[in-house]
Amino acid sequence: MLRTLDDLQIKERRVLVRADLNVPIKDGKVTDSQRIRAAAPTIREIVERGGTPVVMSHFGKPKGERDPSLSLRQVADELAAALDGIDVVFAENYDQAHALLDDLEPGKAVLIENLRFHSGEKDDDEDFAKVLAGLGDEYVDDAFSAAHRAHASIVGVPKLLPCAAGRLMEREIRSLEEHLADAQRPFAAIVGGAKISSKFGLLRSLIRRVDTLVLAGGMANTLLAMEGKSVGKSIREDDAHDEAREISEAAREHGCEIVLPSDVVVAREMQADAPSETVSIDAVPDDAMILDLGPDSIARIREILKGARTLVWNGPLGAAEVSGFERATHEVAKHVAERTRDESLISVAGGGETGAALAEAGVRDDFTYVSLAGGAFLEWLEGKELPGVEALRA
Ligand code: 3PG
Repeated sequence: MLRTLDDLQIKERRVLVRADLNVPIKDGKVTDSQRIRAAAPTIREIVERGGTPVVMSHFGKPKGERDPSLSLRQVADELAAALDGIDVVFAENYDQAHALLDDLEPGKAVLIENLRFHSGEKDDDEDFAKVLAGLGDEYVDDAFSAAHRAHASIVGVPKLLPCAAGRLMEREIRSLEEHLADAQRPFAAIVGGAKISSKFGLLRSLIRRVDTLVLAGGMANTLLAMEGKSVGKSIREDDAHDEAREISEAAREHGCEIVLPSDVVVAREMQADAPSETVSIDAVPDDAMILDLGPDSIARIREILKGARTLVWNGPLGAAEVSGFERATHEVAKHVAERTRDESLISVAGGGETGAALAEAGVRDDFTYVSLAGGAFLEWLEGKELPGVEALRA
């Protein structure tokens, strides 16, 4: 059983909240505040119930040292905006956090500097966990997207304080379980991304569960190359042919159809609006790279989705972040949104790039559920236990 905020004493307590405020930032400005906005309901509820939220998060991948370019101070204003009138006071270190908390008026929240400025965080150091736990009376983990990391703030602190899942953590787990754990069939998956080697475990697990697996991007190129097709200069992993073959054979064994591109958009360089052409997958020029799917491949995906009841999607279909090569991702995203709106499809997506592409296509809110997690979403889908979720089980 997962304990939730309902099971915690909040009134007049300091509640340590592990959030995931790891958001994209450019020139000091947050470019996608989705995760910050999603963290707000738990923090707001703690304030409304008379508690003081002490919010902590990682930000980027500093190597256990202070790095001003990765200071969480940069997200403090966005967090305050998402909290709608609740003041956010920033603490640069733990001594300062104690001092601030001692004088803090009710109704305010404290945000602590990037946890990963301390090597004890990644090492799940017991003493570091004690320092963190010293800042709260209760602990709430609202960072499903970091639940695959066995770090001090995620698995160390809940050993020391009464703990529970926050509202976002609850929603992520509930939504994924409801829609995907025992998915309605026919069940289709779309997986894009550069490397088959990084999603090998995921593909192996999906093949056992889905009826159709659409592959795109570098991982599709690796399968195509393994089958003897020429993919020109496209991104692929020539040393992963054995893995690609294993995926193909396992799919046959489990009755899962793997769908690879039949036509593609190619260009000589991966530059915005680079000159491109659409060619059959059998005619990729030697000096060109595959950057998107062509109309026949898109039509085939639409056909598959017409027969599907559930879809899980991770990874864009092409170089969707580069202008001129987003068409397949956006077209399929819009089609999925339409089918979801008319209730003929249950659609779940996850991963940072996927969420960004759906937002860019203007349909992120039209999917049944879009997880804010990347790595944690993939590990959950793969069937792995997430240390951050296990740490909260009663
Ligand atoms: C993410 O962005 O997927 C999470 O914040 C986890 O970040 P990490 O990969 O740096 O642990």
